[in-house]
Amino acid sequence: MSQRKMLQSSSGALLLLLPLFAGPVLGEISEDFSQCLDFFYERSPPQGITPAGYQPICQRYRNQYHFASLYDRQHRTPLYSAYVLSPADGKRPKAPWMYEPQLVFSRASSEMKVFDIPVDQNVIESQAVLQDYKNSNFTKGHLNPSMHQKTKENRKATFTLTNIVPQRAGSNSGPWSCLENEVLSEFKAFCNGSMYVITGGMPYESEPRWINNRVSVPEYMWSAYCCPSYNASLPESVRSFFPTYAAVGRNDRNSDEQIVPVDIKSKASVRGYDVRRMSLEALEDILSQRLAMPISLFQGQCQEQRGKDEV
Ligand SMILES: *[C@@H]1O[C@H](CO)[C@@H](O)[C@H](O)[C@H]1NC(C)=O
Ligand SMILES: *[C@@H]1O[C@H](CO)[C@@H](O)[C@H](O)[C@H]1NC(C)=O
Ligand SMILES: *[C@@H]1O[C@H](CO)[C@@H](O)[C@H](O)[C@H]1NC(C)=O
Repeated sequence: MSQRKMLQSSSGALLLLLPLFAGPVLGEISEDFSQCLDFFYERSPPQGITPAGYQPICQRYRNQYHFASLYDRQHRTPLYSAYVLSPADGKRPKAPWMYEPQLVFSRASSEMKVFDIPVDQNVIESQAVLQDYKNSNFTKGHLNPSMHQKTKENRKATFTLTNIVPQRAGSNSGPWSCLENEVLSEFKAFCNGSMYVITGGMPYESEPRWINNRVSVPEYMWSAYCCPSYNASLPESVRSFFPTYAAVGRNDRNSDEQIVPVDIKSKASVRGYDVRRMSLEALEDILSQRLAMPISLFQGQCQEQRGKDEV
């Protein structure tokens, strides 16, 4: 076979294989995060994640991008949501839940939409729907919480199920909510500029667990932030919180204590849903091991600016 022929036949084979592996994912708009890189530190999404099976979503609502999520099609949950923190200027909105048309059909509208009733079968197949969470004993846990978003529109945009994972109430309204408040306080007190946050769910190690046999339940929640420019005279007590900080929270009170130990003295309603604060590097190690991918969340570990000469 001549070289030319070989090339032709191998590219022919490629063309045949592509649709099988890529399915309907090969859209133009949704192929990457190019429309919403501003939500990532140095405009650089986390590195090391094998793209197969994941769908980047630039979360668009009312003609504006609000944050970014990496959606795991098989698990019907986001692996993470990435956003720039800005304290809410009002209350948690009463917003209707939305879905992502791009997951149904790659050339569909790039704006999130309120669920129709009844929900279209193609929507049900492509993503989580409200029915999955009903009677599941799990709450709808925001990765990007509405109270970390400034305007009412920003906050409403967090009410898309592509920003949601099944989270135990004991975690969602307990220690995990404390962590979200703590991050907000650190931002207000010491962050002088942007704070980039990435929050996600960590699947079970061996066998995934599901609600409604469709939506995967994370064993742990995780979060990390990067605030490259911060108050130069940090008190000793918060030194280790800048420029980066991370945490892992239990979402299953029966998990073993290797990653996050349990405080048996905490009150019964939240016992077993502890959150362990840690360095960015410690979180990346845990994530890399659990997902079997060498994950780096922030470009250059977010050490470019003040962090360097402070150490
Ligand atoms: C939810 O919890 C209740 C009470 O523990 C239990 O009876 C029920 O089977 C659970 N539902 C699901 C879907 O696991
Ligand atoms: C915050 O940033 C501004 C502008 O870059 C700078 O002038 C100021 O000194 C900084 N403040 C602190 C506390 O680092
Ligand atoms: C920086 O932090 C110190 C210590 O908490 C505080 O006294 C000071 O006002 C802060 N500076 C600015 C500009 O926020």
